[in-house]
Amino acid sequence: MQDPVLLNDWHPVAFASQLALQNPLPARVLGEDLVVWRTGDSVQVWQDLCVHRGTRLSIGKVCGAQLECAYHGWTYGADGQCVRIPAHPDQAIPTKARTKTYPVTLAYGLVWVCLGIPANPVPPFPEWGKTGFRFIDCGPYPVQASGPRIIENFLDVGHFPFVHEGILGARERPEIADYEAGIGADGVLAKGIRVFQPDGFGTGQGEVVEYTYAAFRPLTAFLRKESTGPQLSILLIVTPVAPAESVAWMVMAMNYAFESPARELSAFQDKIFLQDQPILQSQRPELLPLDLQAELHLKSDRTAIAYRRWLGELGLVFGAH
Ligand code: FES
Ligand code: CO
Repeated sequence: MQDPVLLNDWHPVAFASQLALQNPLPARVLGEDLVVWRTGDSVQVWQDLCVHRGTRLSIGKVCGAQLECAYHGWTYGADGQCVRIPAHPDQAIPTKARTKTYPVTLAYGLVWVCLGIPANPVPPFPEWGKTGFRFIDCGPYPVQASGPRIIENFLDVGHFPFVHEGILGARERPEIADYEAGIGADGVLAKGIRVFQPDGFGTGQGEVVEYTYAAFRPLTAFLRKESTGPQLSILLIVTPVAPAESVAWMVMAMNYAFESPARELSAFQDKIFLQDQPILQSQRPELLPLDLQAELHLKSDRTAIAYRRWLGELGLVFGAH
């Protein structure tokens, strides 16, 4: 399915740290199979296909600055051109012997690919590079759900007392006071969302927390727990695999809990995400309805309403309808 909005957008395919072993990794974006591999500081993302007999290059191996196909050893340089055909060392290599390559960029510890012509830079991450913060990779989380459903769930606080009971919400205090949400130049922005959290910072202490939420891109959302003390921000990016299949990536920015190992902090997000997953995978229709007459909306769904409206304005089709 052609979706120019997502085709010309950036999508994560790996954490840069996953590529340290120099083994190629498979990925799938918008139904396209990809191979991700690195040579030194540069990362390549190609169609996952050897032009000789169509073998997946992701089962091949990285040899220095080249990628070797597992089947007959055809070897490709970092620009995608085949540089070696072992069976015929003296034969000139046809110029057509090259893989399809895609634009790649690195940001926030993630490798991003664009399958079309990049229409925007990667989405912002306001805390990135700020002193006093540490950054923690969470995921990737494979989900059998559409990208927009996953983003909308991230923007939703009404489910905290039920899905994340005892942690991000309390069943006895499910009320959500009114707040502001709107569409601007940077996408959707919602401010002043106040909820009671029994253990929102992992300290065992309950408090009313104020959230700011944003959707910077159709499949990138952001939240910040506003506080003059401990501050937590999360950038969530969803890679669209198929219309109802996705991979979610999170990067957390924290200016506290420096004594806790990163693994412990990412395990907390794993637990939260695992609570959301069965909800997401159960939602029907699988594709997010952009028609506001479909499904029912409350005042506290303001952010979701703005998000659906914005996706409609952008003309998003993949994962929505
Ligand atoms: Fe890749 Fe033959 S299929 S070398
Ligand atoms: Co949730």
